[in-house]
Amino acid sequence: MKPIERCKALIARDREIISPATRISYFPLAVSRAEGSKVWDLDGNEYLDFLSGAAVTNIGHRHPRVVQAIREQLERFIHNTLAYTYYEVPALLAEKLAEITPGRFPKRVAYGLSGSDANDGAIKLVRSATRRLRILSFLGSYHGTTLGALTLSGISLNMRRSLSPLVPEIYHVPYPDCYHCYLGLQYPDCGLACVEYIRELFRILIPPEETAAFILEPIQGDAGVVIPPSEFWRELRALCDDHGILLVDEEVQTGFGRTGRWFAIEHWGIEPDVILTAKAIASGMPLSAIISRSELMETWSVPAHLFTAEANPLCCAAALATIEVLEEERLPERAERVGRTALKRLGEMMEDHDLIGDVRGRGLLIGVDLVRDRKTREPAREEALKVSWRAYEKGLILISFGRFGNVLRIAPPLTVSEKELEEGLGIVEESIDDVEKGKAPDEVLKQMTGW
Ligand SMILES: Cc1ncc(COP(=O)(O)O)c(C=O)c1O
Repeated sequence: MKPIERCKALIARDREIISPATRISYFPLAVSRAEGSKVWDLDGNEYLDFLSGAAVTNIGHRHPRVVQAIREQLERFIHNTLAYTYYEVPALLAEKLAEITPGRFPKRVAYGLSGSDANDGAIKLVRSATRRLRILSFLGSYHGTTLGALTLSGISLNMRRSLSPLVPEIYHVPYPDCYHCYLGLQYPDCGLACVEYIRELFRILIPPEETAAFILEPIQGDAGVVIPPSEFWRELRALCDDHGILLVDEEVQTGFGRTGRWFAIEHWGIEPDVILTAKAIASGMPLSAIISRSELMETWSVPAHLFTAEANPLCCAAALATIEVLEEERLPERAERVGRTALKRLGEMMEDHDLIGDVRGRGLLIGVDLVRDRKTREPAREEALKVSWRAYEKGLILISFGRFGNVLRIAPPLTVSEKELEEGLGIVEESIDDVEKGKAPDEVLKQMTGW
């Protein structure tokens, strides 16, 4: 057993003073340092990182270019609110974001501090731009915890219990989750019944001409890495075009190279009207950006989406450096290549481990869906928690997530070396093997809330 006394002592203090609503607990990891794909705890134990701070450190922890950019900006000034003054880094970054995001039309950018506020911004923007109130979101989605973002989310009752009334006129429809289909059907025999479902709603319940937007993740992350079939995107874009509905592409988790493209929607060649980004944009500094067609942003007026600390110059400098690193090191392409190797290796594990029901992903956003029975696909939530615990004991940061909490989240930094990846996947396999052989005690579940 490795020493974890210091971690445990800090966690005991933390539990007394920090609100329980702010953390989903897995294992007693208290971080003291992080570099590249490695993290060290307070007791000096080293871990390989398959979580990347929740898909944030895409270019690795403390990339020297990011550290240098923050230092240089720190020497000039830390804060001058963009609400009343001008400075160059936010404009430079906005020009860059307009260039790298899909859609060959004039764009404008609005900043915030988190993925959640970007989603709230999207609700306001599409309503202002269309003068329509209704918004369609998707079951299984996670959009964050500000009031608008949690209204959009469709993954956990704990997020919304006792908070009603939430933001009105937001409806949820089934996401094309072809492994755990909401409608109990099988793709492709289903004939894309989830899109038919939307058409039916438009026929009998929700007037399409009163619908402002669809807001959705191109690949649902926290639902357990759920990847829609290509026709879904074509059909959805067509529905938008037919009824003047805006398509909001929520790339908070999938953006900045994570899935093997700069933005995941590019896998399907679709041009969204609005793109939401945060998380990896600034390698961990708090920043979000809404990038949209210019004419939409000309419809909302100040101060509809203004924050004192928006576009903090340290965060913008970190974002510019992050984008340069992604470009120069060609990390989206690398994610695609290395991700393919990981998917192959995980696919091979299925031959020896019945606990694995499905392996799916794009780039380095990969989910390993654990089931009790491959036929019924009964989710193996507790087993997934135990795998995550065993992996931690063996030096790998790996969590389980998903709408049933049974999917292992494989999301290392895009800079992870091939050796590190192989080592981490080896630990994943050993941990699954241990759980299958009953080597992980039920005891550990008491400390783990999990998804
Ligand atoms: C797809 C998606 N949207 C929004 C959010 C919320 O982002 P934040 O936690 O920065 O508010 C998350 C966070 O996990 C996310 O995965």
